[in-house]
Amino acid sequence: MKKNYTELRAEEDNFYLNKMMKSNEILYSKGNNDECHTPNYAVFPIVEYIPKDAIIWCPFDTQDSRFVKEIAKKNKVEFSHIDTGQDFYKYEPEKCDIIISNPPYTNKRKVFERCIHFNQPFALLMSNTWLNDAAPKQLFMQRDLQLIMFDKRIRFECDGIVNNKITFGSSYYCWNFLPKQIIMQTFDIAKNLSKELLFL
Ligand SMILES: C[S@@+](CC[C@H](N)C(=O)[O-])C[C@H]1O[C@@H](n2cnc3c(N)ncnc32)[C@H](O)[C@@H]1O
Repeated sequence: MKKNYTELRAEEDNFYLNKMMKSNEILYSKGNNDECHTPNYAVFPIVEYIPKDAIIWCPFDTQDSRFVKEIAKKNKVEFSHIDTGQDFYKYEPEKCDIIISNPPYTNKRKVFERCIHFNQPFALLMSNTWLNDAAPKQLFMQRDLQLIMFDKRIRFECDGIVNNKITFGSSYYCWNFLPKQIIMQTFDIAKNLSKELLFL
């Protein structure tokens, strides 16, 4: 049976609505790398860019986090974590100048959206593969994305075990934090680790 104009328009609207919902599902999709912890050598490079007297908020960190331990050597650190009832999406400290952490891979777009909303400088560790997605282009269309990129992959500690089979590189995705847009750095990892382990 031939469809009239109104039916055809409704069908078209439904088609685009479905398409939008599907692309939102991808943009806000879940991952399973959420409990991987950052080693010291991946925190050192960020510490040197932290201005004296700046208060740092580490929103995905407990007192055991290497971010908290290393940054606290020079700066005041506010740290919070979902396990202590401080959900990043609801909680914010009274005072913070810069946000620094390795956020969960799940909902990374929402994490960046909230950091941008705070309008404070930030540096968040994220996989390089995220650059393939539409999200960072959309989020940083109107503001300069800054990156610290590394010559080696970070071997995160997942469930207490150092992952020697990391398949992706990571960078600090920053805003209003670095002295220039892209900084390439080498990791100063203990020399006794073999090249194979470091994925050189
Ligand atoms: C990728 S891990 C990194 C942990 C730590 N920042 C580090 O680098 O060692 C992300 C952490 O964020 C926590 N987390 C997940 N959702 C959170 C939320 N909504 N608010 C606060 N912390 C959250 C996870 O439990 C996990 O411990």
